[in-house]
Parts: sequence; C-alpha cells; structure tokens
Amino acid sequence: MQPGADALVLFGATGDLAKKKIFPALYNLERRGELTVPVIGVARSDWSDDDFRQHAHDSIITAVPNAAASAIESLLARLDLVQGDYADGATWQTLKDTLDKHNSETCVYYMAIPPSMFPTVATALAGAGLNDRGRIVVEKPFGRDLASAEALNDTLHSVFPEERIFRIDHYLGKESVEDLLVFRFSNSLLEPVWNRNYVRSVQLTMAESIGIEGRGAFYDSVGAIRDVLQNHLLQVVALLAMEPPVGPDSKHLQDEKAKVLSATRALDCDHMVRGQFTGYLDEPGVAPDSTVETYVAVKFEIDSWRWAGVPFYVRAGKGLTSGATEAVVEFDSPPRMLFDESGGATPNRNLVRFRLGSNDGVTFTLQAKTPGEDLDSEDVDVSVDFAAALGERQEAYERLINDALDGNPRRFARIDIVEETWRIVQPALDNPGPVYPYERGTWGPAESEQILNGDSWFLPSGPAKPTTLQE
Ligand code: BG6
Repeated sequence: MQPGADALVLFGATGDLAKKKIFPALYNLERRGELTVPVIGVARSDWSDDDFRQHAHDSIITAVPNAAASAIESLLARLDLVQGDYADGATWQTLKDTLDKHNSETCVYYMAIPPSMFPTVATALAGAGLNDRGRIVVEKPFGRDLASAEALNDTLHSVFPEERIFRIDHYLGKESVEDLLVFRFSNSLLEPVWNRNYVRSVQLTMAESIGIEGRGAFYDSVGAIRDVLQNHLLQVVALLAMEPPVGPDSKHLQDEKAKVLSATRALDCDHMVRGQFTGYLDEPGVAPDSTVETYVAVKFEIDSWRWAGVPFYVRAGKGLTSGATEAVVEFDSPPRMLFDESGGATPNRNLVRFRLGSNDGVTFTLQAKTPGEDLDSEDVDVSVDFAAALGERQEAYERLINDALDGNPRRFARIDIVEETWRIVQPALDNPGPVYPYERGTWGPAESEQILNGDSWFLPSGPAKPTTLQE
C-alpha cells in the first residue's frame, strides 16, 4: 500500500467521463462520508468556478435524480477549478499553487482525457515537478496495439514509476467480476473440478442491446476488439482461469493473472468472427465505408496443465437482443448413462453460470429426477441474485476512485498484464478478415456459430427465479 492521498486532481473535469461516471461516483463517496479530500478540476474550457460547480451539480442530478442536497453541497464545496491550456506553463504553476494552498503532499492525478493527451499531461506534470508528489490514474484505451501500449508505458515510466501508475479497467472495479475470484477460491467444492478433466468449455458473453450512443467517432477508431475484448473480457478470462494467488497482496493476484495470460495463445484468426450491425455506417462520426466491428466472437486457447484443450469462447457485441454479461462454465457429460432404459433424452450437461452485469449472481444448472415412473432427469437451477441475498453493491467507479485515493493498486491493470492482452489480440488487429453484417436485435452474425465446433452459444439467462414448492 502507498500513502493515502490528500487531494484529487481531475484532468478533463469538464468532459464526458467526468460527467457520466466520476462526479456521480464522487457524490456517492461523499454521501457515505468516504470522500475527505479536495477535488481540483483541470480543464481547457473557459469556465468560471461557478460554471464548474453547476456542471458537477447537473451531472450528479442526471445520474442520481434523488440525490441528497446536503451531500451535493458538501461535494461542491470541495471543488476547485484550474483553467488553462495544457501547453501553457502558467497552467501548471496554477495547479502547483492550488495544491500548495491545500497543503497537499500526495495527490491522485486522474486522467479523464483522450488517450492522445496522456503523454502531454504526464510529461508536463514532471516539467512542473509535480510527478514526485502523486500517482496517476490512466483511463483505457491503453494504447491501440502492442507497440503503442509499450510506447505509452515507456513515456509514463519516464516520469512515474510503475507502482504509481494506476490503469483503470472499470470491469476490475465491479463487485460481480471480483466475485469470480472470491467464489472460486472460497468454495472448496469448485476447485477440484475447475480444470480440463471436468470442464468441457467456457463461454463468456458481453451482450449490449444499446448501439454506440453518439460515440461514433470514438467507436469507429476502436471497434469491439479494442473497446472491450482486449481489456474487460480478457481480464474476466484471467479471473476464471488463473491459479489461486499465493497470498492476499496485489502483487500475488497480478502475478497469477499475468501467468495465465502469458499461457494464452495469440488469437488464431480462423477462430474469430467479426460483425457490424446494419445501420452502423449511418451513425454520426462513422466513416461511410467503415469495416470496424461492433461484434466479435473468438476462441481463446490456454496452454496450461489446467486448461489445455478447453476452449474459451468469448463474444461481445452492440445492438444485440438484450443486454447481459455472463460467463458459463460447461462441465463434461457423465461417463455413461445409467438410467436410459426408458429411452429418455440424454441429460444436459451441468453449467455454472455467473451473471456479471445487472442482476449479478450465480446459477448452477444441475440434473434432478423427473417426477413419474421413469428414471429420467431434467434441468433444475440452483440460483441466487447477489443483491437480494447480500445487499446492494457499490458502483465500479466509486471503488476504483477510493482505491486510487487509498493507494491500493489491487484493482488496476499492471503493465505486464496489459501488454500480454495486447499480444493475445494483436493477430486480430493485423489480420481482421471480413466483417459480417447482422441486424440489430439479433444475437449477431450467424457465422459466429462456426467457431464453436458444432456447439451453440448459451443464451444469457434472466434474474434468478424464486423456487416454489409444488402443492
Ligand atoms: C466501456 C466501453 O469500456 O464499457 C463501452 O467503452 C461499453 O463501449 C462499456 O458500453 C460497458 O460497460 P458496462 O459496465 O455497462 O458493462
């Protein structure tokens, strides 16, 4: 752990990310009494302090319509604005003066700015002598490919040591995603069967019913591979597949993730299908002849003793039938059918299904005897919604901002992990192949079934159904 921060400096304070995610998260931290430091916004916009406070107020009210006025007031009282151009030395002097005014010795520099600005801001912080008194939080996308991620790392490392670079992947801040770790390693019934001897396949689906929501110019420069596969989904794969960490520290956790990702083969493009929803080309900001994917399905292969031969099928898409993020672990069939004298259907395989989006929870799909004379079985779901059973969860950004202020790197992406994930997807960037059209409101292009070796994608499930006893 590093020393706790005594100030939060928010670059891009008037931007979209601050509006949609950061101010609402700061409000919730304030409401719970967990925010104790001044928040210094830095922005190029020609805004007064009052404009800035009004902007923060409006973004909170939009995200949290019933927000408590007293908590908003306390948060607004923490805000300061440093306004100026990043290329102007005076901006950095004003920032330094503002930090001195607050007697700040250790602060968090949060880069809620376009990635192209990361090097400018990081080196300007060093130029003003401000790099030694804080750590930086960097938003994704962290590079565009392996080479640019390495170059960005080199630039950041020239002014901040690795332990003071916190790379955000907001999936790591989700309690539902972190639960994969806790669920796997707190339940001893899972570990003996969590391997190639019992697991037939693993599927991960990140389905969004929304499209690109006015982010055409940004989205068209990334596509689904860079937007979510390289980061969010490979992080989830790592949590599903990693070995137990040898200890509780951030380093132990990151070491195991790095290890399983380094055992993951670079993508074979024959095991990838890209899709684009019909109508994408008409979105503002999208090139009229764009071949950028809004859908991707891949098969990952992990060359480890635990996982060799077990396919990890991963798909992500926008404009799909419904929104759901789900990981399904499919177990092998029983070695022989004992009770099929009645000619009943072969039982389905057992599944463990983790719901990682809203209504997060877990469902075990097992087999139980069908009522009647015959010894047939059918699916029964043993299921729980975590919010109902355990209480409401905090939002990812609240947890990540808190961690950054506390100096705890556990939920951030370490450099070697980021570089491994780029290595894994690099062939898909070099050789993307065709992009298949699909209609909005479907599950993506039919071609995505081709990578499944004759199987089908599991449809995402809804929330857990209460089980009632039959009269
Ligand atoms: C972001 C992507 O990182 O994650 C978006 O840029 C995507 O395109 C979003 O919609 C999904 O996050 P969540 O938390 O809604 O699953």
